[in-house]
Amino acid sequence: MKNFQVNKYGYFTEDGKEFVITTPKTPAPWMNYIWNGRWAGLVSHTGGGYSFYLTPRDNRLTRYRYNCLPWDQPGRYIYVRDKKIANYFSLSWAPTIELKYDYYECRHGLGYTKIITENLGIRGEVTYFVPRDYDIEIWLVKLKNLTNERRDLDIFAYIELIMGNALNDLINQPNDKHFPDVYFDGDLKSIVATRRYWVTNRGVSVAQPNHAWPYYLIFSTSLEIKGFDGDKEKFIGRWRSNANPEAVELGSCFNTEITAGDPCAVIQSELELEEGEEKEFVFFMFLVDKPSLHTNERLKRNSKAYNKASEILNKFKNLGFVHQKFDELKKYWDDYLKTLQVKTPDEKLNLFVNVWNRYQIAVTFDMSRNAGYYHGGLLFGTGIRDQMQDIFGELIANPKRVRDRILEVCSYQFKDGSMLHNFFRISRTGEKTGHCDTPLWLPFGIITYLKETADFNLLYEKVEYYDGGSGTVLQHLIKAIEYSLNNLGKHGLLKFGRGDWNDTLDYVGVKGKGETVWGSEFLAYILREVIELFNYLGLKQFLKKYSEEYLKIANNINRFCWDGKWYIRGFKDDGKPFGSSKNREGKIFANPQAWAVISGIADEERTKMCLKSVEKYLDTPKGPKILHPPFTKVDPSIGLATRCVPGKKENGAIFNHVASWVFLAELIAGNAERAYQIYHATLPLNNAIDADLYKMEPYVYSEYVTSPDHPSFGEASHSWLTGSSDWFFKSVVEYMLGVRPTYAGLLIDPCIPSSWKSFSVNRLFRGVEYRIEVLNPDGVNKGVKEIWVDGKKYGDRILPVF
Ligand code: NOJ
Repeated sequence: MKNFQVNKYGYFTEDGKEFVITTPKTPAPWMNYIWNGRWAGLVSHTGGGYSFYLTPRDNRLTRYRYNCLPWDQPGRYIYVRDKKIANYFSLSWAPTIELKYDYYECRHGLGYTKIITENLGIRGEVTYFVPRDYDIEIWLVKLKNLTNERRDLDIFAYIELIMGNALNDLINQPNDKHFPDVYFDGDLKSIVATRRYWVTNRGVSVAQPNHAWPYYLIFSTSLEIKGFDGDKEKFIGRWRSNANPEAVELGSCFNTEITAGDPCAVIQSELELEEGEEKEFVFFMFLVDKPSLHTNERLKRNSKAYNKASEILNKFKNLGFVHQKFDELKKYWDDYLKTLQVKTPDEKLNLFVNVWNRYQIAVTFDMSRNAGYYHGGLLFGTGIRDQMQDIFGELIANPKRVRDRILEVCSYQFKDGSMLHNFFRISRTGEKTGHCDTPLWLPFGIITYLKETADFNLLYEKVEYYDGGSGTVLQHLIKAIEYSLNNLGKHGLLKFGRGDWNDTLDYVGVKGKGETVWGSEFLAYILREVIELFNYLGLKQFLKKYSEEYLKIANNINRFCWDGKWYIRGFKDDGKPFGSSKNREGKIFANPQAWAVISGIADEERTKMCLKSVEKYLDTPKGPKILHPPFTKVDPSIGLATRCVPGKKENGAIFNHVASWVFLAELIAGNAERAYQIYHATLPLNNAIDADLYKMEPYVYSEYVTSPDHPSFGEASHSWLTGSSDWFFKSVVEYMLGVRPTYAGLLIDPCIPSSWKSFSVNRLFRGVEYRIEVLNPDGVNKGVKEIWVDGKKYGDRILPVF
C-alpha cells in the first residue's frame, strides 16, 4: 500500500509501521508509548508525556501536568540556542509553540517516536525510545546546519522529575519539597537525582512505609557537559514557563544542585556545526539501585551502584551501541508482528490487524487501563478483567509473558475464589470492589492461554492466594467458578454486586439482590469453556456439575430475561427489570444480546431476534450503541451510567468494546455482511477522516465515540487503553478469517464478505508457521468445502499440530 493519508493531520507510511503527523496542531495530543515492560513512557507528538518504572502511580519518574494549558506539558525537551543570534527553539515544537517553525513532522513508530523540526536554519531530529533489554530511556538527536555559515550552538536537555508517587506529587507537591536531592557527579559526568522518602500506600494516607525511594536516577549525554541544573525554579526563572526558561534565554545554566525543592534534570552542552554539517548525540536516563532504603548518602564512588552506573554510561555514550539497540527494537517489533500476518482484499483491515491493532494490544497488555493520557496512571492500577483480555495478540508472540501474567493474576485471588478487582505492582495492594465478573476473568485468561499453547503444565503450577495458603492454577480456576456459582440470586442469575463488565451499573445490585444477565451469560460462557477443557483433559470430577449448571443458567436467562424481542439487562435490587421494553429509558442494552450469542444460550430464533433488535434500536453510522434510549433522568437505583451525559460513555455512546462483541456475535451467527459493516463503521481509520470532529488518534481504537444522542456525534475519547482493540483483533482473526486455536489444533471456519475471492493468514502456532490460503471461488460467506494440507486433501477442519 502507498502512503495512506488518513486526514489533514497525517498518514501511514507505505509499510504501515509509522504514522506520520505533519502538523503539530492536532485536535488533541496524539500519543505513543516507549516501553519494554518495566521502563515505560508515554510520548506525544510534541514530546509531551511521562515516564515510570514498573508502576505509574507509585514509581513515576517524570512529571506531566493534567488539566494544563497549553496542553500536553511538560515533556522531554531539548532546546537549541544559537549563540550569535541569541535565539532558541525546542526540537519537539512544544514548549516553544508560539514560534514559527519552517518544518514539523512526528513519526510515531512501534516503540519509538521521532520528531523532526526545522527552525533558525537548523534541522533537528530527536528519537525517543526504550530498548527491550535495558531499562533506560534514550533521546537520540541529530542536528544539521541548513545554512552556509558555521553555527555555534548551546543544547539544553530538560526533564522535570518526580521520582516517587505521582498522586502525592499532584496533590501535595508544594508541601513535599523536603525530600528530593539532585546534584552533578563530576566523575560520572551525569546528573544524579534521588528522593529521601517514598510514599507508596494507597490513598496517599499519612501512614506510609518507613523508607526512601530505592534508586538513583542518572541523566547523562554523549556530549561534553558545560553546565547543569537540578533546581527547576532556578532553571525556568521567576514568572516564566517552559517556553522561555531563563537559563536558555541567557545561554547558561546556573549549575544548581538541590537538597530540597522542585527537582529537574538539565544538561547543557555546546555544539559547533560547519555549513551543511550534521552531528549526532544522545541523552539518556536510567536507574541504579540504592544500597539501602535508609540512607541519604550520595552515590558512593566504587560502590556497586556507582560501578553499575559507569558501566551503563560507557555503553550508552557510544552512539554505535545506541543504534544497535534501536535496530534491535525495530527487529523486535518486526518479529513480533511476523507471528501473525493476514492478507485480505481489504487494505485497511490488513493495516490494522497486522500492525496497529496488534501494537495497541501490546500496549494495553502492559498499561492496562492505567498509564495513559486519559487514565493518568494515578487511580486504576491493573484491572484483572482488562488484563485477562489484553492477552490476545501478545499470546501469539510472547506466550511466556502471558503465562507469567496469569500466575501474577492468580496471586490476587482469595482462598474463597473472590479477587481483587485491580492491583498495584510493587505495593501489591488493590481494591476488592465486588464486581461480579472479576473472578471469572481468571478462567477466561487461562483457557485462552491453553487453547493457544496446549501448555497444560500451567494448570499444575502452585500460586499463593492473596490471603495465604496456596493452590494449583487448576484449583484457582475451580475456585473462581465455585465462588460465582455460590453467588446466584433469586432468578438463579449471577448477582450484580458492585457492577459487572459495565462499571457504571454500580448501584443495581449494591444491596445484594440485583442480578445481571450479561454476567450470567459470561458465567455460562466460562462454564461451557471449562466443560470443553475438562472433557479434553479427562478431568471428570466437575464435568457433570458444570454441565448441569450451564443448562440451569441458560434456562434461567431464557425463562426470566427474554423481553419479547431482546434480553433484558438485569434485575435491580427491588426485583424490577431494567433494559426492558417496559422501562422508559435504557430499554435495550447491547451486552446481553451479543453475549446471548457468544455464550451459546440463545437458540436460533432468539439469536436472530435479539441481533435484529440491536440493528433496529442501537445502530448508528459509526457502529452500535451500548444502550438505547440513553438515560436523561438520573436513576440512583442504576447508578453512574444514568449520570453520564446522554450519548457519551456508558450512557448510550458507541462503546467500541461492546461494538466488538456485537461484531463477534454477528460472525458467530453467520452474518458476514452485517459484521463487516460493523467493522468498518467502527474502524478508527474511517471515523478519523473528519479529524477535527473525531479528535483522537486515527491509528488506535478509542474507548467510545459519541452517538447521535449528543450534539457532538462522532467525537471519540479515551484512546489507546480499551478492550475494543483486543476483541476486534480476536474476532477478525478467529471468527471472520476463521483461523481459531482449539486444544486439538487450528480450526478453519471463515465468515467473510462474499466479495472476497481469497485471503491468507500466516500464523505462528505452537512453534510452527502455518501458511493458510483460503479460496472463495463461489463467493460464499461461510462453509468450508475442502481443506488441503501440504498438497494432500485433509478430512478435518482442524489443522494438525506439527
Ligand atoms: C473501563 C474498564 O476498565 C473496563 O474494564 C470496563 O469494562 C469498561 N470501563 C466499561 O464500564
